[in-house]
This record gives sequence, C-alpha cells and structure tokens, in this order.
Amino acid sequence: MPSKFCAREVNKPAALEAAEALFQQNRFPEVCSRKGKLPGRYSVPFNQAHLTGRELTYLAQAVANRNISGDGFFTEQVSRWIETYLGCSKVLLTTSCTHALELAGLLLNLQPGDEVIVPSFTFVSTANAFALRGAVPVFVDIRPDTLNMDEALLPERITSRTRAIVPVHYAGIACHMRAILSIAEKHGIAVIEDNAHGLFGTLDQKPLGSFGQMASLSFHETKNITCGEGGALVLNDPAWIEKAEIIREKGTNRSAYFRGQAGCYTWKEIGSSYLPSELLAAFLYAQFEQAREIQQRREWIWKYYETHLQDWAARRGVQLPHVPEACAPAWHIFYMLMPDSRERDGLIRHLEKHGIKAVFHYLPLHSSEKGKTYAAGQQPCPVAEDCARRLIRLPLYVDLTEQNLDMIIQRIRQF
Ligand SMILES: Cc1ncc(COP(=O)(O)O)c(C=O)c1O
Repeated sequence: MPSKFCAREVNKPAALEAAEALFQQNRFPEVCSRKGKLPGRYSVPFNQAHLTGRELTYLAQAVANRNISGDGFFTEQVSRWIETYLGCSKVLLTTSCTHALELAGLLLNLQPGDEVIVPSFTFVSTANAFALRGAVPVFVDIRPDTLNMDEALLPERITSRTRAIVPVHYAGIACHMRAILSIAEKHGIAVIEDNAHGLFGTLDQKPLGSFGQMASLSFHETKNITCGEGGALVLNDPAWIEKAEIIREKGTNRSAYFRGQAGCYTWKEIGSSYLPSELLAAFLYAQFEQAREIQQRREWIWKYYETHLQDWAARRGVQLPHVPEACAPAWHIFYMLMPDSRERDGLIRHLEKHGIKAVFHYLPLHSSEKGKTYAAGQQPCPVAEDCARRLIRLPLYVDLTEQNLDMIIQRIRQF
C-alpha cells in the first residue's frame, strides 16, 4: 500500500475551467493526429481504415434513436448478419477480440493451473485472455508453410490439465482444422478459434469461425471490417448462449430482461462489461453493408502483390504466403519471409526511405518477457523464432491504388 494517499486538493470550479480550457486550446482536428499516424509521414502508410461512406449516416441514426448503449437495432442487425453468414448459433458483439477471448475463458470456467494450448506466433491476446483466469498458456510451434499452429505437435502438449486449444488462422488462411478438432475431441477439450484475421476465409468451403465450439472476431482498425475497436464472440453450440449473454452484461441477466424474458435482472455469474455501444454497431453496419466489395478489393490487392512479386521472390529465396488446397484466404495480410533478418530489416528501411511503411510482427510469445515465465520447461518453438526474424508485412488496405502498388513493387524489386 502507498504510505500516503496523495490526491491533490481540487478547487472544483477552477478544475472544470482548466479542463474546459484544454479543449479550447487543442481544437479538433489539430489533436487528431496521433504519434506515428502523422499525415504526410508516409506516402503509403501501412494501414488506413476504409470508410464506406455510410458510417456517419448510421451513427446519426443511432443518435437520433436516442439509443446509444448496447443491444439496440444496429447491434441486432450486425449480429444477425454475421450469424447468417457463419451459420452459427449466436454472435455476441464485444468491445474487442481480446474481450471475446476473455469471455470465452470465463465461459469455460478456467481455473488456475488449467492449460490452454496457443501458438507462440500470435498476438498477445490469444494467450493473455486465458492467463487472466490463471490458466497456463502452453506454447506450440508453427508450421513453416502457413505459419499456423503445427497440429502434429499438439498430442505431446496435451496433459490432464489441458482445457482448450486456440488455433489462430494466421493472415486469414485456415489452420488444419480437421486434425485439430479430432485431437480435441479425442481428449474432450474445447477448440476456440482466434479468428481475428480470418473472417471471410474458408476451409472446404466452410467459413473460418464455424469450426470450434467458439470463435472470436476482431473489428480493430487494422482489420478487414472495422469500427475502430471492436470484436465478437461466435458461439457454435447453443448450450453456451445463456451464460455468455450473462457474462457479457456484467454477470447479470439484463439481456433476457430487455427481451421481456425476466421480470427484473440481477447478479447471476462472474462477468464483465463486454457489450459495445450502439455507436460502434452502427459503424459496423455500414461496413458489413459493403463486405463483399471490401473483400473483392482486398483479394485483388493480395493477388496483385503475389503475381508481380512471384518471379523476384523465387530468384531471391523469398517465401510468399502459401495457401493450402481447400483454403480460400480472408485476404487479411500479405507477408513475405525474407532469407534472413538482415535482409528483412534492410527491406523495411529501404521502403521507409521511399515513404512506404512496412512492418514486422509477432515477437514470439514464448520468448516475450511475460511469456518466458510460462515457457520455462516447455518445448521450444524454433520455427516461430525463425519466422519472426524474417517476416515483413506489406501495406494492404482497400484504398491502395494500382499506382501505389506498382510503386511498392518497384521499390521491392529494386532492393
Ligand atoms: C491473432 C489476434 N488475436 C487477437 C487480437 C486482438 O484483437 P483486438 O485488438 O480486437 O482485441 C489480434 C489483434 O490484432 C490478433 O491479431
């Protein structure tokens, strides 16, 4: 405990004036350019949120409806859209994919010491959401072709404490779901697809997100469909619906109450506040309205990179994304695996010099500061380490023009 409580004495009217003065001094739009997003710094930024043009109309509609908390018209419509597309039992919009994964961890009633198998090569939330419940993330290495969880390594990671496997469809290209589901079924453990990248990708013509008991989606600014920050939990088993709704609404049965299915609502379970505002759902509505066009454009860009870089990549020993048979990608990421880290870093610098922002990720979780506290004694993940050193992601967003792409490709070929 701190020895001294140190909130300063405030003169309330003066504090209010000072706070108001802040907005007066920093009037929009001067405040809106965040560090790293300064306009003009790159002629081709790494990512740019695509706007369909109807977002403000629907936001205004939500405001006019005087319904700006969650679970209104737009939440309902967007959820039904995704349910219809995925053919799942229920979609619950959430405030992020991270929160959808946390909700999944609460639904599974994970206990300290339970184990959850995750790829090491992923975003931190894939592991953190379950670690938050006291579960131990067990890191598994990735396949060198798709950079997805290596299903062949799963049997040796399973113990009596394993509660779930969390495959990530990296870049929107499917994991080997047949093998993963069969291992999970054999051991009676859940499969939760972290489908942050994979909405609209398919495997055997079946949408990613429809394979596991649950799946998470992300609508972060960097994703194909966005509302800035947002996500969803997909439930493929109706048995989870009632409890999931309760957890998402602060542990209460408020959702049932608003549907007229309960006379009052009360605290039922341990939960949290994962329901997004109608404002976010209204924004998403405008995006889903144009999902087909967004995906078509992203596919065109992805294939443009592939077609125009193929010969150069073969000559230079660069690996382009591999799409296994029976998979259709979600066209989320276009990456290249350079021959070594020196060439990767050099290419990033070369593109930067010419105003093009390319990035790398992920730093493997098992070798991160927190990940190491779990990974001691676990199997190594050499493929994840190797790929993390060599991977570069190219800009991929709807508003990239053919001219932009030609410029990026020319600079890469020149490297
Ligand atoms: C694989 C993966 N899982 C989870 C997340 C977290 O998504 P969100 O930012 O919506 O919480 C991300 C974010 O990029 C991700 O790449």
